[in-house]
Amino acid sequence: MSAPESHPFCSSSLIGTGSYVPERIMTNADLEKIVDTTDEWITSRTGIKERRIAADNETTSDMATAAARNAMEMAGVDASEIDLIIVATVTQDMFFPSTACFVQQKLGASNAVAFDMNAACSGFLFALQTARHFLNTGNRRCALVIGAEKLSSLVNWKDRNTCVLFGDGAGAVVLRRNEEEDAPGRVLSTIMGCDGNLTGILKVPGGASAEPITQENVDEQVKSIYMEGKEVFRHAVTRMKEACEQALERAGLKADDVTKVIAHQANQRIISAIVDRLGVPAERTFVNLQKYGNTSAASIPLALDEANRAGVIKRGDILLLVAFGAGLTWASSVVRW
Ligand SMILES: CC(C)(COP(=O)(O)OP(=O)(O)OC[C@H]1O[C@@H](n2cnc3c(N)ncnc32)[C@H](O)[C@@H]1OP(=O)(O)O)[C@@H](O)C(=O)NCCC(=O)NCCS
Repeated sequence: MSAPESHPFCSSSLIGTGSYVPERIMTNADLEKIVDTTDEWITSRTGIKERRIAADNETTSDMATAAARNAMEMAGVDASEIDLIIVATVTQDMFFPSTACFVQQKLGASNAVAFDMNAACSGFLFALQTARHFLNTGNRRCALVIGAEKLSSLVNWKDRNTCVLFGDGAGAVVLRRNEEEDAPGRVLSTIMGCDGNLTGILKVPGGASAEPITQENVDEQVKSIYMEGKEVFRHAVTRMKEACEQALERAGLKADDVTKVIAHQANQRIISAIVDRLGVPAERTFVNLQKYGNTSAASIPLALDEANRAGVIKRGDILLLVAFGAGLTWASSVVRW
């Protein structure tokens, strides 16, 4: 077993969480009116009961900024103290500038360097690890790590295979450099992985350089989500379980030590399969996908904030965060709360 991952100079801790979801609720009953589906099918296959849909004029950076403000308030951190902003998203406001630059402007965080990260549904944990490297090496002191998505802008509302799965929202954390070994919220380890051989099973094929929108394909929904659900499911369970084991080993911990698993909120059956294989009791999972569906990069920080504010997680708890997404990408992180 490898030693706990630590940097010779410093480490970093989560000192605040925040989230935001749009007001508009779309229930499974609402979807029954749009596509050939049923509440029973969606609930039994995924666990999802409803999802949030952003207003037409509400952007990903609006949601990201709202979540960030909540996290900063909890952390007691002023915008001027933030020197790094990373926004994980696949639904950026525009191709450019980055969504993170819009967030920087909206927060007035003028001392921050800001950029986006795309690792699909694993994006938040990729961003967390990236921020951690900036902090642990002494390059930056205080980071906002945000996952935010307006997936309703990528959904084909005529495709029942995918439109029932996704929702909009944002979650954020403040991560601060902290030299104290036992500081609360300390990130103990992070694992990341990719398999580019499987880019084809989960993608938005069009609308960018590979297949720009043209007069000819404008009606073909090329800029919407394509997914081979069964294949994605299979790889998700295998990769997430492995990533959990690796992150725990790197932190010098065992599955038994885990207080709460906060997994990417895509499908209740995926979460159940992972914890079952890890040997972690089902009651040690935190699940909110019934309310929000799959919010991609937003899902883990959204769940983390909800669990935190509800008092479900407490100081000293060992949290196991794990994500999986298009790419394929996967990531896992152990945090001592
Ligand atoms: C999408 C998912 C819920 C589908 O469940 P499944 O048990 O694999 O279902 P299938 O795709 O085999 O479809 C079974 C049947 O239900 C139908 N179906 C698909 N969506 C439906 C819907 N919304 N309502 C009713 N029927 C539906 C299919 O057409 C198929 O019908 P057929 O047998 O007549 O062809 C599941 O594959 C899944 O969760 N995959 C992972 C998705 C995910 O997590 N993606 C994001 C990762 S980041």
